Order: sequence, then C-alpha cells, then structure tokens
Amino acid sequence: MHTPQSTVYARDLARWMPRLIAVWRASRQGAGRGGRGGQWHRGPGEEGPADRLTPQELREVASGVRTLSLGLTRERKLAGARYMDDPKLLGAYLLFYWPVSYAQGREALGELPERPREVLDLGSGPGPLAFAAMDAGASNVTAADRSKQALALARELAAEAGEALATREWDPVGGKPAPEGKYDVITMGHVLNELYGTGPGAVQKRAALVESLLERLKPGGTLLILEPALRDTSRALLELRDAVVGHGYAVRFPCLYRGNCPALLKASDWCHAERPWSPPRVVEDIARAASIHKEELKMSYLALAPKAEAWREPPTGQVYRIVSESLEGKGRQRYMGCGPEGRVGLALQEKHRTQANEAFFHLHRGDVVRVTETEERGDGLALNERSEVRVVAAAGRGVPPAS
Ligand SMILES: C[S@@+](CC[C@H](N)C(=O)[O-])C[C@H]1O[C@@H](n2cnc3c(N)ncnc32)[C@H](O)[C@@H]1O
Repeated sequence: MHTPQSTVYARDLARWMPRLIAVWRASRQGAGRGGRGGQWHRGPGEEGPADRLTPQELREVASGVRTLSLGLTRERKLAGARYMDDPKLLGAYLLFYWPVSYAQGREALGELPERPREVLDLGSGPGPLAFAAMDAGASNVTAADRSKQALALARELAAEAGEALATREWDPVGGKPAPEGKYDVITMGHVLNELYGTGPGAVQKRAALVESLLERLKPGGTLLILEPALRDTSRALLELRDAVVGHGYAVRFPCLYRGNCPALLKASDWCHAERPWSPPRVVEDIARAASIHKEELKMSYLALAPKAEAWREPPTGQVYRIVSESLEGKGRQRYMGCGPEGRVGLALQEKHRTQANEAFFHLHRGDVVRVTETEERGDGLALNERSEVRVVAAAGRGVPPAS
C-alpha cells in the first residue's frame, strides 16, 4: 500500500491554518507588521482562537466564499475580475480556497520526479502554490501576480512562517512580463482560465503565453498548470494542451496519449483529477456554513516539458490511466482508461473476478494500471478470468520509467 500524498502534506497544511487566520485577522483590522521580532500587533477585534474562526468570522467568510464560488465556478462573472483587491473576497480566498489550492499543488508537485529548487509561481494570489512548492523542498521561490494586495498578503504569510519569498508584479495581458531567470518549475494555479477572456482566440493566446514561459524553464524543468475541474475550464485546458502538443511539446503528466486529447471528441466529456483528502477543520467549517461540498480534491492539471524534450516512454505492456470514476453496473465493473493508444472503456465481469485481477475492483481515478488478456467489445475492452491487473502508479504518484 502506498501512502496517499494527502497524508504527506496534511501536517504542513495544518501548520498553515493558524498563519492564514492570523494574517487575515490582522489584515482586516488594517494592522501592519512591525516592532519586536516581526510579530503582528494584535489589535482589538483580532482576538479569537488561533486555529478556528469565531461564529461571527465564520459568517463573514462564508458569505465571501459564496460570492466567490458563484463568481468563479458557476456564473464565472468574477473570472479575470479584480476580486483579490476586495478585502472581503481576498479574506474568503485566503481561508477557504488557499488551503484547497495548496493541497492541489502538493498533489501535483508530488508527481515530479525530483524536488524543484527554483520555482516561479505565476498568478500566485496570496501564494498557496508558492508555499506548496517551498514545503515540497523548493529553496528559491518567487510569487508573481497583478494584484498588489494579494502579493502583500503572500509576503505577510512568508513572514509569519519565517520563510523567504520574493514577489513580483506580473500581468501578461497588461504587458508586464514574467520575472527574468530560469526555473526548475513554473506553476500557474487557476490563473490561465482568467486570462484573455473566453472568446475565440483565448486558447491560442494562452497557448502562446505558455510556450513563451516554457522557454524560461531549465533543462528538465516543468510548467505545471492547475485549473478548476469544471467542464469549460477543463476543456479549455485540453484545447491548450492540443495546441502546445501540436507545436511539438511533450506532456510530462498526466497524459500517456500523445495525440489530440480524446476527451475533446464529445462535447460532454472532460478530464480531471480527484484525490481523497481531509480538509482542515476551518475549511470544513466554512464549507458547511457556505453550503459548499469540498470532500474531494478535484482539479484539472497539466505538466509540460520545455521544447525539444521528449515524452517519457510509458511503462511496457497494455497500460491505462483511469480517467473516470468507478462505473459499476449489472454484475460488472467499468472505468474509462486513457493510454498510449487513446481513450477506451475497460470492463470486467464480477463472475470473472480472480486474485490476479482483483485490483480492478478497487481502482481510483488517476491510477495507472497494466492489464493483460483483453478482448475487444462493442463499448471498449473486456478483461476476463485470465486477465492480470496491476497498479503501476497509484493516483498522484509519478509513473515509473518504461519497464
Ligand atoms: C483564482 S486566483 C488563483 C490564485 C492561486 N494561484 C491559486 O491557485 O489559488 C487567480 C489569480 O490570477 C490573478 N490574475 C488574474 N488576471 C491576471 C492578469 N491579467 N495578470 C496577472 N495575474 C492575474 C489574480 O489576481 C488571482 O490572484
């Protein structure tokens, strides 16, 4: 059994929660940092439990979270808007979405074959991915965003944690370029979908930006893009993937298929990751108060390699990444898989269950499996009692080199 990533970073995230609360409390009082030992001057109204919100605070934050949730996921009116400059929404972002993005970042960074050293976090907001990179071992991290307020909070968080974080203004739409330098990893968390609007041409402009950023990677580096696991934002990411792959770039993960993304063939399909996690208590409290579900960690993500770096050879044999949830029905277990040959349904009947194929009944979205003895069926491939099923990489784990 492997250790899920979530247990690797849960303790790190738990350490961030009191810092997020402290920085939020101080920021809404307009208090500044200074004085002895760089501690916050706690003003009146800033008191409260270090690791929880008071009922009044909870109501305030939940209201901001509802506004953000509606504006960023359902109606999307806030996508690209300057919500980070509104103290109420910035607070809601900090206490609710920050921990989610941090966890998503740790999940995705956990798939890198090596610890990143120099990291640039673009569209950082108050820095969840920047700090996720730091906690994943990065020694030199720069956060860049167009929101001065968000960057100021990122700096306050760094000070609260005793970490060094560089911050820079960046706005590719407004002509402010990314900081100079070469990086092992560049992260872009939930920002691409906010750039260049939604009209035709937006994907091409984002692809051009992404390709220019790929130039800023050191050899062996990775550009890691996270996007919300919504149909439209996921499909836009897949379109961007196809555009960039079409220009000769390789996907480091999660794709095993090198052609155009098969999830784009049907307008109702998209591709996203889902990982189990235990949200910090504050996030659970806010989710409950705002009537939002956050039991699983869902995201769409894409890790790209610099120009001229080849795709990794997939593991040998018949391998697939599971790209659906479990689709049980009528005495059989089914999933959608996506492998070097493309996307295909995989099914195994209960009556053909054996010790050697037992793993098929316990797969998760994101797992990479090797199967044998498949037969073509109308709706995909059927496994049988002679089939063997082995997980070669559990969801969130890097796929080992060809073996
Ligand atoms: C949803 S937040 C994501 C924050 C953080 N990366 C995360 O994953 O939680 C989107 C960020 O993109 C930034 N952003 C939006 N448009 C931008 C632009 N044109 N230039 C730079 N940053 C922009 C916003 O200020 C905001 O901080």
